[in-house]
Amino acid sequence: MFGIQVSQFGSEDVLEYTELPNPQPGPGQVRVRMHAAGVNPADTYIRSGGYAFYAPELPYTPGFDGAGTVDEVGADVDSFKPGDRVFVAALGTPGCSGTYAELAVADARAVHPLPETLSFGQGAAVGVPCLTAWRALFQKAHLQAGESILIHGASGGVGIHATQLAHSAGAVVIGTAGSDTGVELVRAAGAQHVLDHSKPGYLDEMTEITGGKGVSVIIEMQADTNLEQDLKALAVYGRVVVVGSRSSLDFSPRLTMIKEATIYGTAVWHATEQEAADALTGVADALRDGFIRPVVGDVMPLHEAAAAHRRILESSTRGKLVLSVY
Ligand SMILES: NC(=O)c1ccc[n+]([C@@H]2O[C@H](COP(=O)([O-])OP(=O)(O)OC[C@H]3O[C@@H](n4cnc5c(N)ncnc54)[C@H](OP(=O)(O)O)[C@@H]3O)[C@@H](O)[C@H]2O)c1
Repeated sequence: MFGIQVSQFGSEDVLEYTELPNPQPGPGQVRVRMHAAGVNPADTYIRSGGYAFYAPELPYTPGFDGAGTVDEVGADVDSFKPGDRVFVAALGTPGCSGTYAELAVADARAVHPLPETLSFGQGAAVGVPCLTAWRALFQKAHLQAGESILIHGASGGVGIHATQLAHSAGAVVIGTAGSDTGVELVRAAGAQHVLDHSKPGYLDEMTEITGGKGVSVIIEMQADTNLEQDLKALAVYGRVVVVGSRSSLDFSPRLTMIKEATIYGTAVWHATEQEAADALTGVADALRDGFIRPVVGDVMPLHEAAAAHRRILESSTRGKLVLSVY
């Protein structure tokens, strides 16, 4: 088979498209013929080396997320048969051979039926983004129906699905995006109000939107830029969940006192086995019931994985970046 191999940590140039041996499914594993693989920002941090949460043994094939058809099942697996349409969400499960390849082996617990209504590209958009969104909304912020929520960075992989899930949970959703296309996407995902984070003073409207009270919950994709403003936009007793931050900031802790705020950090990597299983069940049910409608943005061929790693770190996201394998 062909796939991407990383033999040393470094820039995008270490992503080599090459012929590799077919991975063999062991007991409890499923081999999937991949049609699409999801690209996540974490894939780039891991490839660079020195990522706080995970360092694979070299050489390795990147990718936790993907979708395709079951090719072969290992001993003890009776929940799937060859030809079944599935999506793979392998972060947190052992033994995944990497989804940036024509064939990928994964633990059967990481493999889930892909509803007929969804494309393989949409299936590849599910894993890390939806599990992160679920964890931030329900396992950290404990979002309740009727609460107001600001999803700061709602146009990307995590944000768009967080918007859909928060809307379906009965929250009043305010989302932000940095382009006209992103604004439309966030509105279509169920946000009642959409603000453009590329425009100066875009948070001024928050006072009017929330009747001067501020929002109960903020899910933050770029905390190094926004945390100080978030604390100002928050209601008293509000909760902020930091999902993304790529740098540091000068921050006044006094703001947390003024709002008696709770700031949570989250990392999908720290989910317990039970939390990960609960999140997967919640996400699979939401997919089946149509509450999550994965949004695919750019689609690039597998052999252009290096260009995809450059693009995922650029702004103006329009949904999930996916590699097409077949
Ligand atoms: N903690 C975890 O477990 C976890 C899991 C997954 C991802 N993450 C991190 O969370 C972040 C988002 O991940 P993703 O997969 O959604 O990435 P993505 O698809 O690349 O999306 C990035 C998002 O950030 C937005 N953004 C850009 N500038 C912003 C600003 N000034 N303020 C607010 N938002 C801004 C983008 O909006 P525009 O492009 O429209 O400007 C887009 O919505 C990344 O840093 C990622 O590493 C963390």
